[in-house]
Amino acid sequence: MKIGVPKEIKIHENRVALTPHGALELIKAGHEVFVETKAGVGSGYFDSDYADLGVSVESDAKSIFDCADMIVKVKEPQDIELEMIRKGQIIFTYFHFASSQSLTEKFIQSGASAVAYETIMLADKSLPLLVPMSEVAGKMSVQEGAKFLEKSKGGRGILLGGVPGVAPANVMIIGGGIVGTNAAWIASGLGATVFILDNNLNRLRYLDEIMPANVNTIFSNHHNIESLLPETDLLVGAVLIPGAKAPSLVSRKMLSLMRKGSVIVDVAVDQGGCVETCKPTTHEDPTYVVDGVVHYCVANMPGAVPFTSTIALTNATFPYLSKLANQGLEVSMKNDASLLVGLNIYDGKVTHKGVSDAFELEFHKPNSVF
Ligand SMILES: NC(=O)c1ccc[n+]([C@@H]2O[C@H](COP(=O)([O-])OP(=O)(O)OC[C@H]3O[C@@H](n4cnc5c(N)ncnc54)[C@H](O)[C@@H]3O)[C@@H](O)[C@H]2O)c1
Repeated sequence: MKIGVPKEIKIHENRVALTPHGALELIKAGHEVFVETKAGVGSGYFDSDYADLGVSVESDAKSIFDCADMIVKVKEPQDIELEMIRKGQIIFTYFHFASSQSLTEKFIQSGASAVAYETIMLADKSLPLLVPMSEVAGKMSVQEGAKFLEKSKGGRGILLGGVPGVAPANVMIIGGGIVGTNAAWIASGLGATVFILDNNLNRLRYLDEIMPANVNTIFSNHHNIESLLPETDLLVGAVLIPGAKAPSLVSRKMLSLMRKGSVIVDVAVDQGGCVETCKPTTHEDPTYVVDGVVHYCVANMPGAVPFTSTIALTNATFPYLSKLANQGLEVSMKNDASLLVGLNIYDGKVTHKGVSDAFELEFHKPNSVF
């Protein structure tokens, strides 16, 4: 199969969908790989790293889209890319169709097949291609929170871990899933006093078993959040209700309970955020202040650490990419139920219920379309 990797063109996106090592594995399996010039630079991979392994480095995206049977990307296709997609082509990337009717309609018209990273699902309902980015964002949330607690960055000037004779900072993490757990590891490792809240008791039992002594598990409800806010230096929002907007758990009114110079990192901003005053920001201008509280609400946190994020993402995507390349779309989907739920659109037909429901489009069972 001919596999094409264009350079990502969405603003602030430095990841690349395939590392030179991954390209080599595909070439060894008998495939041809085409990478757009400078596609890997943001993640530390140069054209020569690919070319030395037998990859064809192309000067523009059009050459890639023109020749490839399968395009592998990171972000959803941008308008200029949608114009280049061909009927019958496989596009393997993050799509998040339900958040864009225009993207969905344009993709349907292209006649290509969309295999969406975010809907590939294992039998236990976990989403293996979302996990790595949540791990990155969870770890980053505390790193960023610590930075913006510094006085020169607008914070109240408190060191997360304290020092002998001075108490550590208090970190409240709402949501104890992948993001929350990774945030708790970092915050506790730095020596902060951590409170992690979830409304799933089994999850709290698990966290209680694996976390160090400076992590306290608390049931998530309005009373407990409100009681913790006055003493919280760093609040991390990490809740998720699958397929729904994040619940608003900290209202504008509750914000006044927090001390001036405390920091909120609302990682759940991509689902609307769990803090009422949260609105999306960018890495260029990541924070703003409401009622003296610093808000960090970057919707694409992993984009700040593309070296780590690219490897973390491709570690997770490669097994599926390899199956799609080796067996072709139809056979690989028949052989792998996790991959089949990744199929969102096939030859103009919507094959994912979440996408068809979002825009009232006709739904076709994915195993009925080939
Ligand atoms: N900003 C970014 O760059 C970025 C990156 C990755 C993930 N995210 C987002 O971070 C959020 C968390 O992702 P995740 O992978 O950890 O999800 P997850 O499903 O692993 O965890 C979510 C947790 O929230 C808990 N929860 C649900 N309702 C709750 C409530 N009312 N109170 C407390 N806990 C509650 C669930 O029980 C679950 O344990 C998602 O919105 C995700 O999209 C953002």
